[in-house]
This record gives sequence, structure tokens and C-alpha cells, in this order.
Amino acid sequence: MSSHRQETVRRLAAPDITMRKGQTPIVCLTAYTAPMAELLDAHCDLLLVGDSVGMVVHGLPNTVGVTLEMMILHGQAVMRGSRAAMVVVDMPFGSYEGSAEAAYDNAARIMKETGAQAVKVEAGETIVHNIAYLVKRGIPVMGHVGLRPQAVLVDGGFKAKGKGAEERRRILEDARATAEAGVFAIVVEGVAEGLAREITEAVAVPTIGIGASAGCDGQILVTDDMLGLFDWTPKFVRRYADLRGEISQAVARYADDVRARRFPGPAEIYFAKAG
Ligand code: KIV
Repeated sequence: MSSHRQETVRRLAAPDITMRKGQTPIVCLTAYTAPMAELLDAHCDLLLVGDSVGMVVHGLPNTVGVTLEMMILHGQAVMRGSRAAMVVVDMPFGSYEGSAEAAYDNAARIMKETGAQAVKVEAGETIVHNIAYLVKRGIPVMGHVGLRPQAVLVDGGFKAKGKGAEERRRILEDARATAEAGVFAIVVEGVAEGLAREITEAVAVPTIGIGASAGCDGQILVTDDMLGLFDWTPKFVRRYADLRGEISQAVARYADDVRARRFPGPAEIYFAKAG
């Protein structure tokens, strides 16, 4: 494919995603690296550089330790690897919950240094002022309600949300307020189908579900989960591959070949004929 053709592909942007409300479901996956972004780009509408990168790639126990620098580095890689899908970069814990000015400085830094099309924040009523502040100043924002992984230390674990009526009411309010603040879409995580459908009906922007049923306008999963890279799969994930098994078998075969001096063979060395 010529470089001219590559330059003429238009990336999806926030308005394209918003317009898809109630249409064909929006396909989203997480991406953290350039080669994975390249593979996903042809199939996805939106790639999320999730702060789950801290757990998936860096081995952290949760997302609280993820830094702005980590998000920028992975955001840059995903932008380099993709060309058609919209790229959204998560704002890490501590980078947007304080003053609106600080949230703006951090979001603007992510946008400038990665070239991504939007940022995502875990949203609740305390954050909506900051969301509106960013959107009014030209930064497209995606919200995230329901199970909010950055609240893991307050919640005491990653727990599905909305069992009680009061919690359901609060999550619906979070979603409404987040939409009113101007987000272009909202991730709805870890809630029952009834609440996901209620939120989807209540807001004018698309809802993107994760562990939230098919009642949303789109779906997202952590790519490494659906590819089967971990020994444990959350209930809401469908494993489309068993890469953990495949990698393990491939590495075992490589180790056997090296130990038995079967690798490298004659076809796998330079200048074999020249001696
Ligand atoms: O960080 C992440 O990967 C996310 C998705 C799970 C929605 O926020």
C-alpha cells in the first residue's frame, strides 16, 4: 500500500462515534502497543489505551500506580500502530480529579504528546465540572461509570455495581450528569443488564459496555483477556483465543530445539554457503 493511500485514510473522531448511538454496535478494544494496535485497527472503531496497561503490561496490582508518562508512552505507540480507529487515552488516577485547571493541563499534554483523539475519565458527580471544563476548551472526553477501577481502594476490590436501589440510582445519575457535561460516549462497566439498558435509554451519547450486557450501544474488552493471555478470565469475557496456551507450547518447543541443538538450522544462519 502506498504512503499516499495511508495518508488519505481519515481516522474516526468523537462526532463519528456519537453519531453511532442506537446504530450498528460500536466495536472497541484496548491497545497498549504499536503492533497490537496495527492488528486491531482493521476491525475496531475505537482503540482505548486503558490504564489497565498498568496491570496487563506492567504487573501492577491495580491501576492506581499508573502515571501520566506511562499513558503518554503507550498512547504514542498505539497512534503509531493505527490509522483508522479513533484512539482514546485514559487519564490516570490523580491526573483529573483535583482542580479543573490541573485536569486541563494533563489532558492537553496527553492530546499534544500522543496525537490521540480524546481522553477518558472515570466519572462521578465530583468530576463533572472538570469534564465540562475540558470539553469547552476543545478536549473530547469519554466518561466511565459503574465499576470504576480507579476506586478499587475505596471499594475494597473490583466488584460489580448496582445491586441495591440506591447504588443504581447513583450510577444512573452519574451517567446523566456525565452526558450533560459533554462527553461523546460513556463506558458502562460491571452493572446488571437492566441498569445498562436504563442508562443507554437515558443518555443521548453511546454507551460502551464491559460486563454490562448487550444492552449498550457498543462493547469493549481488555484485548489480552479476550485473547486468553491470562490463566483467569472474568465472567463477562468471552475468550476468542488461547494465546497463553499457544505461547507456552511455542516457547517449550523452542527451548527443546535449542537444548537439542536443532535450532538454529542451516536455513536460519547467515552466509551458510560462504563457510
Ligand atoms: O483501562 C481500561 O482498560 C478500561 C476498560 C476496561 C474500559 O477502562
